[in-house]
Amino acid sequence: MADSLLRLGVNIDHVATVRNARGGAYPDPIRAAKMAEEAGADGITAHLREDRRHITDADIDGLMEALTVPLNFEMAATDEMQKITLRHKPHAVCIVPEKREERTTEGGLEVAREENRLAHYIAPLRDAGCRVSIFIAADRKQIEAAHRIGAEVIELHTGAYCDAHAEGDIETRDRELESLRDMSAFAHSLGLEVHAGHGLTYDCVQPIAALPQVRELNIGHFLIGEAIFRGMTPAIAEMRRLMYAARG
Ligand code: PXP
Repeated sequence: MADSLLRLGVNIDHVATVRNARGGAYPDPIRAAKMAEEAGADGITAHLREDRRHITDADIDGLMEALTVPLNFEMAATDEMQKITLRHKPHAVCIVPEKREERTTEGGLEVAREENRLAHYIAPLRDAGCRVSIFIAADRKQIEAAHRIGAEVIELHTGAYCDAHAEGDIETRDRELESLRDMSAFAHSLGLEVHAGHGLTYDCVQPIAALPQVRELNIGHFLIGEAIFRGMTPAIAEMRRLMYAARG
């Protein structure tokens, strides 16, 4: 039986996107992270991309110093990111695929194709005490591979489900939701902790929050956008309300 706990990780990358549009220091993602923490976020997520388009190395230093909730450090499986992680030893890392030309993380990691390399890559991160999560599509082959390489957590990519929901493509939305439902149960049966994220909004979060094996949602772009209109605290409070209502 999966338990009913459901954590919310708030991704503050896009506060840094706005800051970087002008250069300088405002708005400060560390301040946003502290506000999110005070508003009830269970964790803060930040993605240090290879091209540093939003979060910077100094932001990671600042987050490690300022946060009292855990930092979930999103990273590509590169030597540079491994060194940074081993220096900081954040609570959790989430390994994501990364292409320079993409606007956001467009698909899940191909774990099955890179099993050996990834097993060696994550071993020192685990030894350093980081909880290792792998961001993947709801695909049995990828889940089995993530399990074999020694990941403790998988984060299921909800982007295709959210896009179909936004486009009103009910058939695709329901098919994607069915895969997420089946694959979260399958991953849980292997002993993996299941997280989910990407593209979640007030409109589409509830069917994902209702999946009993899902323990954490990581939400960024929509919440930071909504904070412009409502403020950070009410934006997060409403997301939590919807998540808990869906969970029953
Ligand atoms: N989870 C992972 C692994 C991601 O890469 C992202 C995007 O950075 C998110 C969650 C959050 O997605 P969004 O910003 O669309 O809410």
